[in-house]
Amino acid sequence: MAFPQDRPRRLRRTEAVRRMVRETRLSVSDLIAPLFVVHGRDRREPIASMPGQFRWSVDTLIKEATELKLMGIPAVLLFGIPDRKDERGTAATDPNGIVPQAVRALKDQVPDLLVITDICIDEYTSHGHCGIVRDGRIVNDETLECLRAMALSHARAGADVVAPSDMMDGRVGAIRAELDAQGFSELPILSYAAKFASCFYAPFRDAADSSPRFGDRLSYQMDPANSREALREVDLDLEEGADLVMVKPALPFLDVIAAVRARVTVPVAAYQVSGEYSMIKAAAANGWLDEPRAIMESLLSIKRAGADLILTYFAKDAARQLNR
Ligand code: PBG
Repeated sequence: MAFPQDRPRRLRRTEAVRRMVRETRLSVSDLIAPLFVVHGRDRREPIASMPGQFRWSVDTLIKEATELKLMGIPAVLLFGIPDRKDERGTAATDPNGIVPQAVRALKDQVPDLLVITDICIDEYTSHGHCGIVRDGRIVNDETLECLRAMALSHARAGADVVAPSDMMDGRVGAIRAELDAQGFSELPILSYAAKFASCFYAPFRDAADSSPRFGDRLSYQMDPANSREALREVDLDLEEGADLVMVKPALPFLDVIAAVRARVTVPVAAYQVSGEYSMIKAAAANGWLDEPRAIMESLLSIKRAGADLILTYFAKDAARQLNR
């Protein structure tokens, strides 16, 4: 059959019919809100490169998290910004560090909110790299020891899920072994399995003051040209014990999200990163894009590509629209 019998526009005539045939739906339950936490009290510092995002101290974080929970957002992802950085990122493994403090407070005061913690030392190292540096190189196996200790300190504080984002080889297996040995065999690992070396992390690095002081991240994060390699990373992480896998960034890598979705049976997450957020914010601030619609269309495209979960700085804005 073809035109004039075939008329796809019949199913677009009214909102009622469009709603009936809609293939993809976004839900508040799909969203995870990333949050930055700093030391101190009563702090809510605006992040210049990410308008509408803040660095929270633990007390203000609790208020924000309570609001997110009331809106139906099931989970948050925590990033810690320590008050001291050093070569080895020692503050990352401190059992009383900023993230363990925040996790304890959240689990105590907003118990039903799922707390996911980012496992990576770049916010804690003076050089800004995601691993231990020796002779200008990022050394893999030594970094695994830091990651194990970091994950354990978050687990002991009560984190619900740990999410390694460093891209060292073998880190999922190392963290799984550590958690199992220490009595946390039921704690899930959300692996940033396919994390690309992307320019879209720039606003985050400003927020966390974690830009590499020398070189770049090309020796550990993936080449944006590679999708087969993304599947290899996903396979390896699942073999090592990942419970959920992530693709990051989201919008420039929708094909990778779709390929990962087609390959695995575990839940797939996608991270709409800081640059994806800030570019929509900047265009909207100039009157070039309708912000609420740009938010929903970008999130919907990520869901349509196959993501079950979306980490997004727009979680609150999207929830507000979805709850209307
Ligand atoms: C590493 C980490 C980064 C992001 C999440 N985890 C920064 C990086 O790899 O440079 C970026 C998130 C974003 O851009 O929103 N700890």
